[in-house]
Amino acid sequence: MLYGADYNPDQWPEDVWDDDVRLMQEAGVNIVSLGIFAWSRIQPTEDAWDFAWLDAVIDKLHAGGIAVNLATATASPPPWVSKTYPETLPANESGASYWPGSRQHFAPSSPIYRRLAGELVRRLAERYVHHPAVVMWHVGNEFGCHLWMDFSDAARDAYRGWLENRYATVEALNQAWGTSFWSQRYGSFDEIFPPRLAPYSHNPSSMLDWRRFTSDMLLECYLMEREILLEAGATQPITTNFMGPFKPADYRKWAPFMDVIADDCYPDPANPNRVRDAAFQRDLARSLKPGAPWLLWEQATDAVNWRPANPGKRPGALVAETAQSIARGADGIMFFQWRQSRAGSEKFHSAMLPHAGTETRTWDAVTELGARLAALPELPTPGRDAQVALVFDWENWWAVEERDHPTEVDYLALVLEWYGAFHARGIQVDIVGPEEVDHAYDLVVAPALYLLRDEGASALARFVDDGGTLLTGPFTDIVDAHDQFRAGGFLTQLGPLLGLRFEDFGVLAGLSSGGSGVGALSADAVQAARDAASRGTVTFELDGVEQSGRLVAETVHAAGATVVAAFSSGPQAGAPALTRHRFGSGEAWYTATQPVSNGASAGGPSADALDAVVAAVVAASGVRPVVADLPAGVEAARRGDLVTLINHGDARVEIALDGTDAETGVAVERVVLDPQGVAFVSAPAATSDPATPRARATASATHS
Ligand code: GAL
Repeated sequence: MLYGADYNPDQWPEDVWDDDVRLMQEAGVNIVSLGIFAWSRIQPTEDAWDFAWLDAVIDKLHAGGIAVNLATATASPPPWVSKTYPETLPANESGASYWPGSRQHFAPSSPIYRRLAGELVRRLAERYVHHPAVVMWHVGNEFGCHLWMDFSDAARDAYRGWLENRYATVEALNQAWGTSFWSQRYGSFDEIFPPRLAPYSHNPSSMLDWRRFTSDMLLECYLMEREILLEAGATQPITTNFMGPFKPADYRKWAPFMDVIADDCYPDPANPNRVRDAAFQRDLARSLKPGAPWLLWEQATDAVNWRPANPGKRPGALVAETAQSIARGADGIMFFQWRQSRAGSEKFHSAMLPHAGTETRTWDAVTELGARLAALPELPTPGRDAQVALVFDWENWWAVEERDHPTEVDYLALVLEWYGAFHARGIQVDIVGPEEVDHAYDLVVAPALYLLRDEGASALARFVDDGGTLLTGPFTDIVDAHDQFRAGGFLTQLGPLLGLRFEDFGVLAGLSSGGSGVGALSADAVQAARDAASRGTVTFELDGVEQSGRLVAETVHAAGATVVAAFSSGPQAGAPALTRHRFGSGEAWYTATQPVSNGASAGGPSADALDAVVAAVVAASGVRPVVADLPAGVEAARRGDLVTLINHGDARVEIALDGTDAETGVAVERVVLDPQGVAFVSAPAATSDPATPRARATASATHS
């Protein structure tokens, strides 16, 4: 288990370096990410290079038994770069420059930035690639974190090349973007601009490509550096740090080029859903590269500095949050940062070694955590072990949140709601792209899969045909990979599976207090419309209980499907609200509204509509929780034989579980957890066949 932090010794006088190594040893640190923002120290002018200090630090760490994840230091170009090469600066959508003075002030597509960054990486690689302390390479840092999009001239030129490469002919692009609309037909690629500030909505198909391009430019920067490291003979794993579900970068496309997935996660202590959201992020990190380890690359020991208010963690929360990562597959636990900064924007950010020193609650927590991690047994690298997969797709995210739709959809919020219902029930979930859905799973949930690629549609159909259970719902299967309607209406791909014919969206909204009219909507009118949409609800009756839906009450017609629940209010009263349909050996379910969730937290189902729908598909698909009957607030996850139990609630709880305490080796029959308490229990999974419909279908296919 790796344990450590970002280490920025260049921010400190040399006389603390020995202390740093000594205290790292005391805390159980075995690796640091070194020099992430050290470019200006390494290359103070274009022609001057200073590696002496870095040599000294690396040697000290090595002598102290601390491994180095060496940064390529390209995330913050030195002042001389911006002065000499202003064309490396990125621009906003009005074309105004982002200026130096912070960090990440580079245009990812700038050839000059890439040349300068590449030279830095080459020099670092040539010098340190064979150093025994260097066990990993950290490329850039959180690509795109602050700069979500760059509209500079460098981006314009690269975009034109990217489009030409994608479409070959401008006529193919015109088709893909539907440019007959609003006189947008292009005569050549050099007539195309980034979607800079325009009077009204940009072409949505172009926006989708723009987002693909943006993600690809960041990825190209990573790949350029990776290539240089490999050419220099690097044999260590190469990676960069992800930020969980980060909209600008399609990490599923990036993952094949990461030797390990590294993820940064900063749960907001003030967010009531922080446990659910962090669990999702960790499941995503694991699912991006099954069979490869993932590392929690940055978290905070206590408060951060970058929210409007920055409360510290509750006592015990550091261990509880860390345990959640280990439970969900992490092989390393790292922090931003080792020693708290004395100057700069992040001087109030917590660190492993606080400004107040070692006689602090933080230092106690950090050393305790180091000791507990060291005591853990070797843990297996998880593969695709969950019974349930939740589909989460970046291209769909970009497309479904484009403007000018029947109603606004917050895709991530919706996905998290569905995730939350499983999390609350202690059911383990993988997070996958539609094309990754296969018979490894018993149940697949695919919310708001508005953009459905042909390959994704085939994978879902194959999955159901093979005996799987699929649940999907509103705003699914509306457009193709170019954000265009397919011929023949909606649900053109999944309709046969679902046994449904789709007629209308039935957007729900309460009365709006704002003005309307033509032309640009005022900010007040936009807000009023959003408020009205959030008040719109519908009811449906499931198993004799009245439940609520929001967002839409779609008109769908059963074409073979069985109606499980019907709307009990509104214009669609009596029409299908929840359906199921046999298809091949499996079954496909559809909700025609978004069931309202009360935001259940870990530890037992809540009495909400979303949970009621999840309960129905869980029962139908034979999916089982990691541990049954969890008390409220308790989270459970399985990793091989290791069951991790975490009490996020405020009361002491007791859970029946047969196994061995993985830290002490003592046999247990029940686990008692104080608030924020964590237990790691070795408890092999029951081997009895769960006899899920999919397992039965597979068995009968094998026998016949
Ligand atoms: C991350 C970043 C670190 C540091 C940290 C503070 O986004 O990678 O360099 O800024 O946030 O929480």
